[in-house]
Amino acid sequence: MPALRTLISAEQIGERVREMGEQIDADYPEGPLYLISILKGSFVFLADLIRTLKRHTVRVEFMGISSYGSAKTSSGQVKVTRDLDLSIEGQHVLIVEDIVDSGVTLSYLTRVLAQRRPRSLEIATLLDKPERRVQPVDVKYVGFEIPDEFVVGYGLDYAEDFRNLSAICILGE
Ligand code: IMP
Ligand code: MG
Repeated sequence: MPALRTLISAEQIGERVREMGEQIDADYPEGPLYLISILKGSFVFLADLIRTLKRHTVRVEFMGISSYGSAKTSSGQVKVTRDLDLSIEGQHVLIVEDIVDSGVTLSYLTRVLAQRRPRSLEIATLLDKPERRVQPVDVKYVGFEIPDEFVVGYGLDYAEDFRNLSAICILGE
């Protein structure tokens, strides 16, 4: 059995996600806001985040991104495996991510999406590991900064397991 140590409890996550939702509601004008969830890790965060928003014009879209190589680090080679099926031109777009690690995935994705001329393009991530950054990314909403540890739960996986944990846990040996 792998060792799991709770880093952020379900209660702490709930409270922080509510604060992030309030901030997002306050920052965006009335009208459509497109949340683009990056599969698969961000689906739990997305599901909780949208329910904290008061507006009735939140739209949800999904994108698949793969960075080659599995295990605990991304290799630096990124590609879109599932694209949006609508235009985001002229729209307010908020990318919803589970975690920013090296920054390789998001710096690639923001370049791809910016070319489609959204009205605005920002990033909301539940977790950020700033020590690991290799490529700079401008993240507007960060839930928690965490140390350089591999974490699972609340949507995040290790080899597809552990996504169902309600807390964020450090995965030991
Ligand atoms: P980046 O391109 O290195 O920033 O990697 C981002 C992606 O790597 C995230 O969307 C996750 O899928 C994965 N990742 C990075 N760190 C962790 C972690 O600690 N646990 C689970 N997945 C992680
Ligand atoms: Mg991810």
